[in-house]
Amino acid sequence: MSLEVFTPKSLPPLPPGRSRYGVLGHPVAHSLSPILHHAAFQALDLDAEYLRIDVTSEQLVAAIPLLKKGGVQGWNCTLPHKSSMFSLLDDADSSALEVKSVNTVRVENGRLRGFSTDAPGWRAAVEEHWGIRPEKSRILVMGCGGVGQTLARSLAKSGCKALTLVNRDPTKAKKLFEELGSASAGRFPIRWVAWQSQDLDQALHETDLLIQGTSLGLKAEDPLPFDPSKLPPEAKIYDTVYRKDLTPLVQTARKLGYQAEDGLSMLLHQGALSFGIWTGRKAPTEKMRAALLGAAGRSP
Ligand SMILES: NC(=O)c1ccc[n+]([C@@H]2O[C@H](COP(=O)([O-])OP(=O)(O)OC[C@H]3O[C@@H](n4cnc5c(N)ncnc54)[C@H](OP(=O)(O)O)[C@@H]3O)[C@@H](O)[C@H]2O)c1
Repeated sequence: MSLEVFTPKSLPPLPPGRSRYGVLGHPVAHSLSPILHHAAFQALDLDAEYLRIDVTSEQLVAAIPLLKKGGVQGWNCTLPHKSSMFSLLDDADSSALEVKSVNTVRVENGRLRGFSTDAPGWRAAVEEHWGIRPEKSRILVMGCGGVGQTLARSLAKSGCKALTLVNRDPTKAKKLFEELGSASAGRFPIRWVAWQSQDLDQALHETDLLIQGTSLGLKAEDPLPFDPSKLPPEAKIYDTVYRKDLTPLVQTARKLGYQAEDGLSMLLHQGALSFGIWTGRKAPTEKMRAALLGAAGRSP
């Protein structure tokens, strides 16, 4: 497995018979996705490879013909490409249309078909951890950047008991609230509250499931995005951020007695779904999980 970082111009020749996939991002060197997919290729004895491919926002449009020429049959998109790739597709699956974001592209006869496996991957993770059905939960989405918007759009479509949005920059929370207010069509209450406000404290008190979608927690020294002790004791916390050690939020929340998980399980399940889209095979999820946990230095 190559841990090298390539660019669309520096892709090595593709050996005959081999399938090629990859992840586009900037930066991309830290991505654990190759670990996941190589474990799956190995488990199913597929002659395939998955490369880290560094592409900046400015390079994205020019990258596409180079990726096709280099034999890349499908790719994941990570920061900062999930929404810009959406406008470059020839065809969008309903999963991408629903959240206006793309994390999986499949090249079909030279045309790009886009999917988003982030929200279904997150749903599989919370179902696996806690047996939670979001439809029955009061959910607070903290962070209205890419991942927060994706999960909030998906929840607005499928429904939940109540949805609260909060973002450091309030204009983003308000804009998303205005968009989703019409998508939810009065089926459940939806609101936005200001960052670190008394309204947020009240909203935390009324939350069953908190989705942490800010980038806080990537670094061990990051402050907590909120005070978890303001949640009711039975509340669950899903931190989309993951790092080798658990995030400060997950560590603190667990010490306080909450059930809290980090984003490694979402990464696993979105990757398993992407694998199925590309190969048409059922992903060997347990082999992928073991490889991911090993790479993250965690015991299975
Ligand atoms: N587990 C997974 O599979 C998965 C998938 C996707 C993303 N993620 C995680 O989600 C995180 C966010 O990704 P993204 O694509 O949503 O990024 P993004 O679009 O850049 O959004 C970043 C978000 O973080 C907030 N933020 C950044 N610094 C902050 C600070 N110091 N205080 C408060 N809020 C801050 C931003 O708020 P402002 O708008 O106020 O700047 C915004 O809401 C990533 O770090 C990644 O680890 C995980």
